[in-house]
Amino acid sequence: MSVETIHVPLGTRSYDVRVGAGLLANAGAEIGPVLHRKRVAILTDDTVAAKHLAPLRDVLTAGGIESTALALPAGEATKSWAHLEQSVEWLLAERIERNDVMIALGGGVIGDLGGFAAAILRRGIRFVQIPTSLLAQVDSSVGGKTAINSPAGKNLIGAFHQPALVLADIGVLDTLTPRDFLAGYGEVVKYGLLGDAAFFTWLEENGPKLAAGDGAARAHAVKRSVEMKADIVARDETEQGDRALLNLGHTFCHALEAATGYSDRLLHGEGVAVGCALAFEMSARMGLCSQEDPSRVRAHLKAMGMKCDLADIPGDLPGADALIDLMGQDKKVVDGALRMILARGIGEAFVTSEISLDALRGVLADGLATR
Ligand code: GLY
Repeated sequence: MSVETIHVPLGTRSYDVRVGAGLLANAGAEIGPVLHRKRVAILTDDTVAAKHLAPLRDVLTAGGIESTALALPAGEATKSWAHLEQSVEWLLAERIERNDVMIALGGGVIGDLGGFAAAILRRGIRFVQIPTSLLAQVDSSVGGKTAINSPAGKNLIGAFHQPALVLADIGVLDTLTPRDFLAGYGEVVKYGLLGDAAFFTWLEENGPKLAAGDGAARAHAVKRSVEMKADIVARDETEQGDRALLNLGHTFCHALEAATGYSDRLLHGEGVAVGCALAFEMSARMGLCSQEDPSRVRAHLKAMGMKCDLADIPGDLPGADALIDLMGQDKKVVDGALRMILARGIGEAFVTSEISLDALRGVLADGLATR
């Protein structure tokens, strides 16, 4: 299978995203050109380290690249001040210099935390993302959003800091659990829904094959998702406008994640899928799109065996008004007003502050009533 390159054109902050099988095994040659000196620091987590750290260090060594590594506990709780401090102090203790490169080897948690550590270490060092989850490959590793969480909400403390290179090795997806794979697939579906109806149709036809492990289908889905993300990020790097489209489903998702305590009751990508279904239902109730659109979204998510309704989230959830209150912490809130991503049809999402609170409350209350 060939490796595809998607360029993210951001002037002096431009970089390539490489997508294909075997990239990890060739990491020395891939990363070599971005190194100033042949020494890297690898930040990872315990779960990923058990599978991928030794092989990565071996290929780096074979390429004459020295490495040092820190594995943090796996899980969302690692996106904290305490682990940021630990990471930065470790990088300083390892004498990582301004011109050196850090590798973030892992899923969204390590990519976000590592990227933030790279952003603030010595006022900014370069870093390479090696995303090992589907979610990180199609979304969080590309575009330079880095962050840790606050008790007040997810990703509220962070910086824009673009990577120097992203290596999305399709082969590593084989080691994901089906649940983690499908959670990442929620973000893939998001791309079709927000801006590419033909891609959504392709997913309806090829989704089951992709979930079953078809490498070519997986590579196509990751490549198309990254192309769409690169295009949006190039237009709006710091989210002054269009980039908010990438948050389709996320206003609902962030409220649901807060309501479920950021626990494994609801993985982020699962919340995105449920959020996309709710955003389309709300759009239909506001008369923006036809009722067939939310039905089609839910039908595809169900066909893939994914969570798509509030009823699919285990345990108690607060009422509609409490969920709306949680949405008030969203980063898209401007002057206290909620902004959401709604849709005029599949592939036609837009950002708006013209929200019908009745439609929003109705969608949530009806969803909660079926639990
Ligand atoms: N994950 C949304 C963004 O990168 O803008």
